[in-house]
Amino acid sequence: MTITPTREIEDDRPVPPCSVHHDDCLSFLRGMAAGSVALVYLDPPFFTRRVHRLHTRDRTMSYSFDDVWESQEEYAAFLRERLEEAHRVLAENGSLFFHCDRNAGHVARGLLDVVFGAANFRSEIIWHYRRWSSGSSSLLPAHQTIYYYTRSGSFVFHPVWGEYSPATNVDQLLQRRERDAFQKAVYQRDRSGRPIPSGDKPGVPLSDVWDIPYLNPKARERTGYPTQKPVVLLERIIGLATNPGDLVLDPFCGSGTALVAALLLGRRAIGVDRSPAAVELTRKRLADPIRSRSRVLERGRESYRTADAESLALLTGLDCVPVHRNAGVDAILKQEFDDSPVPIRVQRAGETVAEAAAKLHRAGGPKGAKRMFLVVQEPDATAAETRPLPAGVFVIDAPAVAIRRLLRDDPDDS
Ligand SMILES: C[S@@+](CC[C@H](N)C(=O)[O-])C[C@H]1O[C@@H](n2cnc3c(N)ncnc32)[C@H](O)[C@@H]1O
Repeated sequence: MTITPTREIEDDRPVPPCSVHHDDCLSFLRGMAAGSVALVYLDPPFFTRRVHRLHTRDRTMSYSFDDVWESQEEYAAFLRERLEEAHRVLAENGSLFFHCDRNAGHVARGLLDVVFGAANFRSEIIWHYRRWSSGSSSLLPAHQTIYYYTRSGSFVFHPVWGEYSPATNVDQLLQRRERDAFQKAVYQRDRSGRPIPSGDKPGVPLSDVWDIPYLNPKARERTGYPTQKPVVLLERIIGLATNPGDLVLDPFCGSGTALVAALLLGRRAIGVDRSPAAVELTRKRLADPIRSRSRVLERGRESYRTADAESLALLTGLDCVPVHRNAGVDAILKQEFDDSPVPIRVQRAGETVAEAAAKLHRAGGPKGAKRMFLVVQEPDATAAETRPLPAGVFVIDAPAVAIRRLLRDDPDDS
């Protein structure tokens, strides 16, 4: 199947052609001309030895693909013949990105060294993301690996620059550096011993650890296809290793993420998948390419820290976890009470004790909390003494309130 969407992208250029093919990628690759592709991105089954299934949010459609193998040898043989073909179709200045995880990373790396030559290994990219899990019997897997190889030593590469670390000092920013006789980095100086200015500073080169959020269940681009990758991840890869108009190939395209990213960046793309449902889904996504916005990427993870810093400072010394993105609770004690969580809130300026207690109760009650603590900074006429608090809410004075109270009530203070 070949489709050519007619939508226009932002700069009014006609959308470049994208094609999606229902086939085993091995036979498809064998039919492609040598040296015809700028970038191959492969996200094959990861040797998880199970069938992956998922459904759309409205549950009207479910997708699956098979990742069951007799042995690691069978899996390695499957990969090897496809990698050899991928290598053949790559242009002399082309690149290949191979996506895998801890199940078969070691198998893939060995094969890639053989097929591409160890000298053409460029990077081991760690795609890192946050996950939640209550299991604690082993370390929580929170990354996947992308091996980056090039066809030769001369390849397309567009560097990406990031922000300097806050720890970078001004001399590092402004002065040129060189290696001394002992290979130590030192500031370069002119004949009279003055440091030489470094000139333009674009930033720090992108590292090989990429902190990109996994697609959340409500992401607009989420299709319900199992193991779907985020468009921003593919945009980064395609932007690094191709020029506008170049041809990108994804032989295991699944829901078509690489093709969507290529389309959004003005590249041409070919996708192949042996599942007819995947091909159909890719076709739909190409007709309406969507990239979800990521607040974490745009504004940083710190933007989620909504808990009030001053309020948290009052809780210093308590063994608790700060709670962000919640209007009623500032922290939860690590210790439980009667098998239930113990939420804590600090009263805000301008808020009555009753209002603060009600917010805490509204947030903690539905979570089954039996003891909730409100730290009071501005006692008022509606305080605990004069009005009953919601069930389970206990009031504690902030240190400033406690001290004022003690001074006022001091019997020696006449
Ligand atoms: C990990 S998924 C790809 C997910 C994709 N990157 C995405 O973002 O949606 C692997 C895909 O490879 C496909 N596949 C497995 N063996 C294949 C083969 N021999 N030829 C073509 N596709 C194959 C599966 O049907 C599945 O869709």
